[in-house]
Amino acid sequence: MKTDPLIRIEELRKLIKEHDHNYFVLAQPIISDYDYDQLFNELRLLEKENPRYITHDSPTQRVGSDISNEFNPIIHKYPMLSLSNTYSEDELIDFDRRVKDVLPNMDSVEYVCELKIDGVSVSLRYYNGILQTAATRGDGTVGEDITNNVKTIRSVPLSIKKIPDYKFSEIEIRGEIYMEIEQFNRLNEERELNGEKTFANPRNSTAGTIKLMNPKLVARRPLQIFTYYFFSESDELISHFENLKLLEELGFRVNSNYKLCKSMDDVLDYCREWEKKRDFLPYEIDGIVVKANSLKHQKVLGNIAKSPRWAVAFKFKAKQEKTRLNKITWQVGRTGTLTPVAELDPVFLAGSTISRATLHNTDEIKRKDIREGDWVIIEKGGDVIPKVVAVDLEKRLPDTKIAEPPDKCPVCNSKLFNPENEVAIYCENNSCPAQIKGRLEHFAARGAMDITGLGESLINLFVNLGYLKNYSDIYHLKEKRDELIKIERLGAKSIDNLLKAIEDSIKRPFDKVLFALGIRYVGSGASKKLADHFLSIDSLSKASKEQIEEVSEIGPSISNSIIRFFSDLNNKKNIERLKQAGLKLSFEKKKISSNIFSGKTFVLTGTLSSMPREEAKEKIIFNGGKVTSSVSKKTNYVIAGEYPGSKYIDAQKLGIKIITENEFLEMIW
Ligand code: IVH
Repeated sequence: MKTDPLIRIEELRKLIKEHDHNYFVLAQPIISDYDYDQLFNELRLLEKENPRYITHDSPTQRVGSDISNEFNPIIHKYPMLSLSNTYSEDELIDFDRRVKDVLPNMDSVEYVCELKIDGVSVSLRYYNGILQTAATRGDGTVGEDITNNVKTIRSVPLSIKKIPDYKFSEIEIRGEIYMEIEQFNRLNEERELNGEKTFANPRNSTAGTIKLMNPKLVARRPLQIFTYYFFSESDELISHFENLKLLEELGFRVNSNYKLCKSMDDVLDYCREWEKKRDFLPYEIDGIVVKANSLKHQKVLGNIAKSPRWAVAFKFKAKQEKTRLNKITWQVGRTGTLTPVAELDPVFLAGSTISRATLHNTDEIKRKDIREGDWVIIEKGGDVIPKVVAVDLEKRLPDTKIAEPPDKCPVCNSKLFNPENEVAIYCENNSCPAQIKGRLEHFAARGAMDITGLGESLINLFVNLGYLKNYSDIYHLKEKRDELIKIERLGAKSIDNLLKAIEDSIKRPFDKVLFALGIRYVGSGASKKLADHFLSIDSLSKASKEQIEEVSEIGPSISNSIIRFFSDLNNKKNIERLKQAGLKLSFEKKKISSNIFSGKTFVLTGTLSSMPREEAKEKIIFNGGKVTSSVSKKTNYVIAGEYPGSKYIDAQKLGIKIITENEFLEMIW
């Protein structure tokens, strides 16, 4: 009798998973590559012959398919917070004082110190032990679905040991995806040979890789993970230190340099030690994370705005290098501002080669007395663009030259404008190619219209070929599809992905569109305030300077800039075209208010398919209801989306009415 191949398939999967864990997580392989490949090939063959037995967590599923990623939104069950930064030992001591002010009568406070890995954070959700989704941080509330790409990272377990307690049926793990420095250098060398653009540093290279459309390409890049946080509904967990141990037991890769510190002195020693040792690590770290160890303490301390009060990052001092400044050139930004840029002898600094650094403005050049031909000290810290901090005057030679600002725009040659009492110099030609490109880049960027794939290089290409002159042209690219797919190195697939991303961006809310317009001084915060106040572009465009300044924190520079923007006929025409393309130029939601949920309390659990959780909350509130985070006897409805958590079980136990997303939508229609 023939045995069921499933028995061998499951045996092989178990073996391969163990070997993967030994190799990729523990870095202690116990079989040869050859023997491993034999097992893998046997499994692949058996699955090919018996496709009905293929499961999501089979090791064969890691290689990545050719199916293009969609990066759909994923609502984080627990918001993905960031950390407040400290830059000195005194600031760390202040943090300790603040913690102890909140916890005066509690047992002594212990901290766990960890390396702050300089990569890209990810949230992994496991349901009944199987990896369901992996999401980027996004804005902290809603991230993007990068599951297909993350599955290709061999140190991310596709399944973990199941834990019988239902409270563990849904767990969320947070970690940092990163690339080792050596692997990053190798990748860049390869890219250079192929004539591709190189990445600036390992973090950028990780961020670029994790957002690749094709998971097969991701599988070829050397990404790794360190996990550092564990969430579950279980009340058995007591400390962060124990949680890190639990992560290791469950098969996750945890950076082994974490340490339990009994006092602030221990914490400071740890920070000093790693500031010295950081250069010897195979990956980049940009600081130390200090976390209160007891989960009871963490709960009492809670969160402020977007960061926890129980943890803090100690950032290392920015790294500095000395190099020669050969020339000062001028870069034209999206609003026409000219920024002086130092062209440097290339120098390696904090993970990447620097050949340009910003000099901010003419005053800064004068104040620091920076001249062409000088030896300068440059600095780079974290996200920051490299900057020139000082001149080494001892090395100054007699032939150094004071750079004069240009009198014509270096890109379009038009006359420049230097407003009285301002240090900035502007190119006033709205059609200057540098401004056009800058405006388009800003429009399509994250935080604005967020059009995946429409970055600097594609914008340059489309502007140079005459397809884009202003942002409303983006929504007419679809009419040129036949021409676009013929452009060398693009092709139908990438153009179709781009057109889809453009179409998706039409859904962005009014405040994002307003920000995307790139009105000078109107950042994302001001856009939100203005959008909330005026509710539509029409009423904002008709508002007087005084009416605009009635909005909190909006001053004369913003109001003047808005008035100036709307007095330009071209801007008006562009906005009209955006309206015709279907972009949201008003807030619709505020109009639909009712009292149908008056006195009713809702709890949301699981992932909703038609809207982010925030939107569902708003809908409830706009219809008179309340939303709470946990189920109690006072709860009227629990809305259960996909993969509901323990709140679902709590609702069942208390006999609370559980409704589906569709039932909820029917209630408000
Ligand atoms: S803890 C609430 N631990 O640093 C807890 N973060 O600004 C927040 N990071 O977004 C994170 N290594 O991407 C934590 N050992 C570590 C970390 C770490 C790197 C990143 C993470 C986070 C950012 C904080």
